[in-house]
Amino acid sequence: MPGFVHAGQVAQAASPDGRIVVQLELDGEGRLAYRVLRDGKPVVGDSRLGFIFRNGRQLLRGLQLENQATRRADETWEQPWGERRFVRDHHNELRASFVEKDHDRRRFDMVFRVFDDGVGFRYDVPAQPKLAEAQIVQELTEFAIARPATAWWIPAFEWNREEYLYHRTPLAEIGVAQTPITLRTDDGLHVSIHEAALVDYAGMNLMRGDSGALRAILTPGSGVAPVVRKTPFATPWRTIAISDRAGGLVESNLILNLNEPNKLGDVSWFKPHKYVGVWWSLHLGKQSWATGPTHGATTANTRRYIDFAAANGFRGVLVEGWNVGWDGDWFANGWDFDFRRPTADYDLQGLAKYAASKGVHLIGHHETGCAASHYERQMDAAFAQFRTLAIDAVKTGYVCDAGQVERQDEPGEAVLREWHEGQWMSNHHLRVVQAAARRQVAINAHEPIKDTGLRRTYPNWISREGARGQEFNAWGDPPNPPEHEVTLVYTRMLAGPMDYTPGVLSLAGKNGQEIQSTLARQLALYVALYSPIQMAADLPEHYEARPEAFRFIKDVAVDWDESRMLAGEVGEFVAIARKQRGGEAWFIGAINDRNPRALSLLLDFLEPGTRYRAELYRDGEGAGWKGDARFRFVRETRAVARGDALRLWLAGGGGAAVRLVPIGR
Ligand code: NOJ
Ligand code: CA
Repeated sequence: MPGFVHAGQVAQAASPDGRIVVQLELDGEGRLAYRVLRDGKPVVGDSRLGFIFRNGRQLLRGLQLENQATRRADETWEQPWGERRFVRDHHNELRASFVEKDHDRRRFDMVFRVFDDGVGFRYDVPAQPKLAEAQIVQELTEFAIARPATAWWIPAFEWNREEYLYHRTPLAEIGVAQTPITLRTDDGLHVSIHEAALVDYAGMNLMRGDSGALRAILTPGSGVAPVVRKTPFATPWRTIAISDRAGGLVESNLILNLNEPNKLGDVSWFKPHKYVGVWWSLHLGKQSWATGPTHGATTANTRRYIDFAAANGFRGVLVEGWNVGWDGDWFANGWDFDFRRPTADYDLQGLAKYAASKGVHLIGHHETGCAASHYERQMDAAFAQFRTLAIDAVKTGYVCDAGQVERQDEPGEAVLREWHEGQWMSNHHLRVVQAAARRQVAINAHEPIKDTGLRRTYPNWISREGARGQEFNAWGDPPNPPEHEVTLVYTRMLAGPMDYTPGVLSLAGKNGQEIQSTLARQLALYVALYSPIQMAADLPEHYEARPEAFRFIKDVAVDWDESRMLAGEVGEFVAIARKQRGGEAWFIGAINDRNPRALSLLLDFLEPGTRYRAELYRDGEGAGWKGDARFRFVRETRAVARGDALRLWLAGGGGAAVRLVPIGR
């Protein structure tokens, strides 16, 4: 076994390929630490573990190892939808049981799973009389990154939740950060720290402790401590993905593998799809959520979108502002929303029928304005009504500042304030997702709790926002710079699908504010930013004005058999290839930061002996992310085969989208 054995080392586990090793150590005070080595060198140095409780002494010192057991796992499971159909879960597990030498002899297990591409670990706390309930004030888990590194991160506990631009700083300059956080060590290793299976627990953020190590800091809640759990319970998995390549982080299945298998059974009623809707015109301020002369969700306007969807092969039409409650200050009055009652100018039943006659489905919208308990009281009736109307996907929303989610356990009781990523919200989202599943409705949450791979367990939790999306290109100050999306791929997207809402071909936000993107890049986003539902976000008239580019949006798949990162660097560029689920076509999406760049992509993934027509949508000569140059665009076709190198030039802020269709042998 590689790795030097330290004094005090009590347990060890290695990845199946032997390159990653986890060691557990107890020091003279009986304090427990873990470290992670790769190829014999520390990636994570000695990092402490433990808890501070409100209702008991800290659980930290005086520990001894009582037992340890190892287990190997190698199985392959199938995703109902996703970036790939089959996922291999190959790891070695170590379960080490610790007990306090004296005092209350409280006990807990540390469970480590070591994969070839990283490590997951959790605390598993058994039922015990001296720890019947754990009021966890803080989890003392550390991540002492052992090498100098650059970090990409967004701040935690700020008012606008997850909707921030990424900081790129030296490791030593991280403030309080959300996860996933991405690091590149100076010697070229890529590391992502996050969590898996965040259930009945508070979200984990990271702060730099005095020793320089990153340390967990749990999101607060309205209760006596951020987390209150009866034993037995297990924490979410703390995850450390490790790869030589930036793309290795993107290809990793570690987080999904650490989640429980599908609990819903057959979810084939959910069909990955593309959708259109009034959304962009609302954010442009051309139409309104509120009723009145510019109301977007009118019967006539929605019919227009249904016709547009039917004519262009989109399954879904999302209508925001369709229900009672948007008039007045909805930001402040989430309790006024009625999730069952349409506005007077919106014929919900008639529109659902009209959509069905054209093979289109309305997509429901439930903006809660953060009145989360109010929503819970109505949601079942709302999902039931939607289901009778063949509305089988719902976008939810939690617009309010951080820490302002409203919880009221019983009508008439005091309203308590919760954080979007606190323990109560982790349970709220699961209540919503499970209630929706009972009615065969899928959920796409905006202003959500962070994604931790629960789509494996609840595959009707299809997408979410949880980052700065395209909406910032409508009214954001600043709008999303060219670096933003090429950073998202290696940060936020490591958590799971995002409803970014790409495809704004008019490249202009409110009052003509320029979107810092070329035309080709808007197309490439459909492949680069994974979601099983993708919006064609722009106005119908803007698509009609650009039929050549629009063609890619009509053709691109949304569900995949396989995904491969062809090339890329964090915050610089991305080139990813995906094979259409159940089909033979491949798609490539490449997006770029502000520096023009030439790529040569080896097409070694294509079927041998088959010729393909490559339909290229690329930046034209002189294209760039400012002014008219954004619209310089070329569509062309070429014949290619496996082993060819596809040369692509990407403009600053540019991109390329490619469809590869087999044309015979
Ligand atoms: C914020 C969401 O991100 C956006 O997509 C939605 O249109 C508004 N809230 C209104 O619900
Ligand atoms: Ca948002």
